[in-house]
Amino acid sequence: MDRQLSLEVVRITEQAALRSAHLVGLGDKEGADQAAVDGMHAQFRRTSVSGTVVIGEGEIDEAPMLYIGEKVGKGGEEVDIAVDPVEGTNLVAKGQNGAIAVIAIAPKGCLLHAPDMYMQKICVGPRAKGCIDIDASVTENLKNVAKALDRDVSDVVMVTLDRERHQDIIREARAAGAQIRLITDGDVVPSVDAAIQGSGIHMVIGSGGAPEGVLAAVGLKCLGGDMQARLLPHTEEEIRRLHAMGIEDVNKVLTLDDLVSGDDCIFAETAITDCSLLRGVRFFGGGARTSTLVLRYKTGTVRFIDTIHRFGEKRPNVRMF
Ligand code: FBP
Repeated sequence: MDRQLSLEVVRITEQAALRSAHLVGLGDKEGADQAAVDGMHAQFRRTSVSGTVVIGEGEIDEAPMLYIGEKVGKGGEEVDIAVDPVEGTNLVAKGQNGAIAVIAIAPKGCLLHAPDMYMQKICVGPRAKGCIDIDASVTENLKNVAKALDRDVSDVVMVTLDRERHQDIIREARAAGAQIRLITDGDVVPSVDAAIQGSGIHMVIGSGGAPEGVLAAVGLKCLGGDMQARLLPHTEEEIRRLHAMGIEDVNKVLTLDDLVSGDDCIFAETAITDCSLLRGVRFFGGGARTSTLVLRYKTGTVRFIDTIHRFGEKRPNVRMF
C-alpha cells in the first residue's frame, strides 16, 4: 500500500476524535458515535483509496454508517478496512478515560471479513509471542506468559472486561496470583498496549466485539505481538451470517495471520479521552490538539503524532505540551 496512507488514516481518526470529543460527558453515546462517523466519512471522501469496510459498525440494516460492505474513499488502491469510529461509546458518554477513534487498513482480502458479533480473544506482546493458547486454561496461559517475560505470575498484569461472563476467568486468574485490571469498556487500547514495553499490561483475555478483535490484531501485528481468537456466534442467525460471509468452520481458532494476513497493514488510533499512552482531545480558543498512535507493519514504524488543529481564522498559539 502507498506509504502516504499511514498519514491519511491519521486524518481520518483525528476527525472522528475531534467531532466526538465535543460530546464527552454529555451522556449521548449515539450522538458521539454519529459525530465520529460523520468525521470519518468526510475525511474518507478526500482519501485516495477504494476501501471496503470488512468489519465495522454492524450490518447495513442495523447500522446505516460504516457498515460491513460499505465502500469508502474517493478511488484508488483497493483496501480492506476495519473501523470503530468510537471505541468506548460509554466512556465518551460518561467522560471516562480510554476512548479512541480507530481504524486499520490492509490490502484487499487481508482482513478477516466477519459479522459484528462477540469474539473470544487472548492478546500478548512480542516477548510472549508463540506462548498463548486460547484452548488452554487461564492459569496455563499466565504461567507461559510469565515464563516468557522472565517474571513470576504475581508480576503479570492481566486485563479483562468487567463482565459477568468473565467471572470464571477473573476467579482463576486471581487464584493463580496474577494482577488483574478490570476495565468497564474498550478492549482495543489495552490489547495494543500489551505489545508496548512499559505500558504495564502483559496479557488481555476474554470476549468482546469482533471488530475490536480485528483492530487489535492489526495493532499487535505491527508491533510484533501475538493474538488468538474465536468467533462466538450465539444464535442460528449468527451462524447463518458467518456462512454467508464465507466462514464455514465457525469454531476455528483464528491466529494473528487469520485475522490479518500479508505483509502490509496500517493501524491508527486517536485518543478521544485520555488513554495510557495518548492524551485525549484538548480544545482551546480557535483549535484543538489531538494525540495519535499510527503503526505500519511493512517498515515497523511507530509514530506518535501530536497535532494542533486550527478551526477559525486565528492561528493558535503553539505550546510545547
Ligand atoms: P463500543 O463502544 O465501540 O460499542 O465498544 C465498547 C466495548 O467495550 C469494546 O471495547 C468491547 O470489545 C465490547 O464493547 C464489549 O462488549 P459488551 O459491552 O457487550 O461486553
